[in-house]
Amino acid sequence: MRVRVLGSSAGGGFPQWNCNCSNCRAVRSGLPGFTARTQSSVAVSADGASWLLLNASPDLRHQIGQMPDLAPSAAEGVRATPIKAVALTNGDVDHVAGLLNLREAQPFSLYGSRRVLDALKANTIFDILAPQVVARTELPLGAPIEIHGAGIDLGLAIEAFAAPGKIALYLEDADAADFGTRTGDTLGLRVIEIASGKSFFYIPGCARLDEPLAQRIKGASLVLFDGTLWSETEMIEKGLMAKTGSRMGHINMSGPDGSIAAFADLGVARKIFVHINNSNPVLDAGSRERAAAEAAGWEIGFDGMEIAL
Ligand code: MLT
Ligand code: MN
Ligand code: ZN
Repeated sequence: MRVRVLGSSAGGGFPQWNCNCSNCRAVRSGLPGFTARTQSSVAVSADGASWLLLNASPDLRHQIGQMPDLAPSAAEGVRATPIKAVALTNGDVDHVAGLLNLREAQPFSLYGSRRVLDALKANTIFDILAPQVVARTELPLGAPIEIHGAGIDLGLAIEAFAAPGKIALYLEDADAADFGTRTGDTLGLRVIEIASGKSFFYIPGCARLDEPLAQRIKGASLVLFDGTLWSETEMIEKGLMAKTGSRMGHINMSGPDGSIAAFADLGVARKIFVHINNSNPVLDAGSRERAAAEAAGWEIGFDGMEIAL
């Protein structure tokens, strides 16, 4: 199975269009140790010919252009794509806006939780993906389903599960408990190659590593995990936004309550941070934070990173 990080950044990308934080300024000016990143998405294939996208970022058109495997194959006709299916982990803009790039009456299958599919249905701009062309299928929680698209069996299955998190920012209800968050607003995915039984976890948004989640990923061969923030308060300290990580639905990497500590005894063979926000100091290859994450066995995901499982 091939796993390719198309975009390793959180919403906004790196640099973010309107951001003057020290990281964004550094990458914009080409400082060594800083690498630009597009927004959060991963591509997976069992056979190298048909591909499943995990999330569709606003940068999808650019990401497709960067990966020859995702170009239309001449053998499939004048209108074609190796992208046969898309699975969503939430309804956030950085994970769904790229669906609009996949219009043009191209058949593929779209998978998401009932909550996220309902949110798309309520946003009529997504009707441009006409139901007779783009099949929408609910991902059940805790039960693997085989992935098909455009009449192709991808040789992959997805087991979705609820991850601790938050409803999409644009759907928040200020008056409701937990801003109206319900089960299914944030998913983690286990992607399984059916022929080999090999699998990996993709969890780009996660508020905390609770016990059920820790048990689930224990001993995994690969986890791509929420790397949004280094610390709970970095957005506030840098003057970027008045929100903590918890308020945004994202766990921090550092500290006793952070992901690095939570993964320490889980025996995960390969741990890769994705969905890295532009405020995160690990984006500086020379930083002490990068050194600390790597010393703890983590890899910092980058655009174009490819893993063979
Ligand atoms: C997030 O990951 O917190 C969201 O992408 C925020 C947003 O939609 O801007
Ligand atoms: Mn996001
Ligand atoms: Zn920035």
